[in-house]
Amino acid sequence: MKRIGILTSGGDAPGMNAGIRAAVRTALAYGMEIVGIRRGYAGLIGGDMMPLDRTAIRNTIHLGGTILETSRSPEFETREGRAQAAGVIGEAGLDGLVLIGGDGTFHGASLLADEWGTALVGVPASIDNDVYGTDYCIGFDTAANCAVQAIDRIRDTARSHDRLFFVEVMGRRSGFLALESGIAGGAEELVIPEAPIPVAEMSARLEEGFSIGKKSAIVVVAEGETPGISFQIAREVREYLDYDSRVCVLGHLQRGGPPTLRDRVLGSMLGAEAVTTLLEGRSGCMVGEIGGGLACTPLEETWQKRKQLNATMMRMFPFLSE
Ligand code: F6P
Repeated sequence: MKRIGILTSGGDAPGMNAGIRAAVRTALAYGMEIVGIRRGYAGLIGGDMMPLDRTAIRNTIHLGGTILETSRSPEFETREGRAQAAGVIGEAGLDGLVLIGGDGTFHGASLLADEWGTALVGVPASIDNDVYGTDYCIGFDTAANCAVQAIDRIRDTARSHDRLFFVEVMGRRSGFLALESGIAGGAEELVIPEAPIPVAEMSARLEEGFSIGKKSAIVVVAEGETPGISFQIAREVREYLDYDSRVCVLGHLQRGGPPTLRDRVLGSMLGAEAVTTLLEGRSGCMVGEIGGGLACTPLEETWQKRKQLNATMMRMFPFLSE
């Protein structure tokens, strides 16, 4: 393995730059050349590449976003698109690829590997944290800290006005962000895709809280497939519960900003591990962190299997929020 490529794909996540930086430094340490592919799979199909040397990645570990830029590429979902990408990989003389992204990225990667035998290793990065094969994805910690800081601020104003607040966090198919920021922010209720709850039931519980002396409350809502859904939930709750309420949608605020220590360290470890995995001749897998150690999970499993929410956190949430 003499020359490899690296790209970031899907939603950007803080800590991706730490992953790129570690991959570049590791590749150079082992005497390999490494090329950056811009704008994810769209850039791969278009042959949009940049050389990556020590200068290119210097002073990037503290930056959110991704210096390689990213995209979601509908073209790569087609066989023709992937054939074009395979042609570009051949022409550029790339012996292997490091792909930093989420389950959609790894789905596409599995197809590319199956159809064209491309050697590749995945690195999980998603603020949603919904990738099977790793306890934490790069970017989750930064986003969760952003969400909990927002909840703290909302609590100040909720307390001051005796209000019920709905704080909407990201999480398209999963409630990892909502659950952890909800626990850390002391939320009263959670609305997450994994455990849908009837509005009547949630309203009754909130009412019970108010009846025993609570004067304000916070409901953390995962946006799911419908960003802005918390406005509708707030309207529905109002039909059961006559309480002054407000909605705050955090949106893309959660995706930006400097990565936390945890995301920088995780990005660094996984970026370096991806390169050594390729060097050892292993491919078609994703490097992740499981139980404090590093593990390699077959790429198909990362998008075919569903990562479960932490059962202990789920069990204890109702008691913590009483
Ligand atoms: O990257 C995951 C995610 O942030 C989801 O939580 C969210 O639903 C989605 O991406 C938003 O995507 P976009 O930035 O394309 O609007």
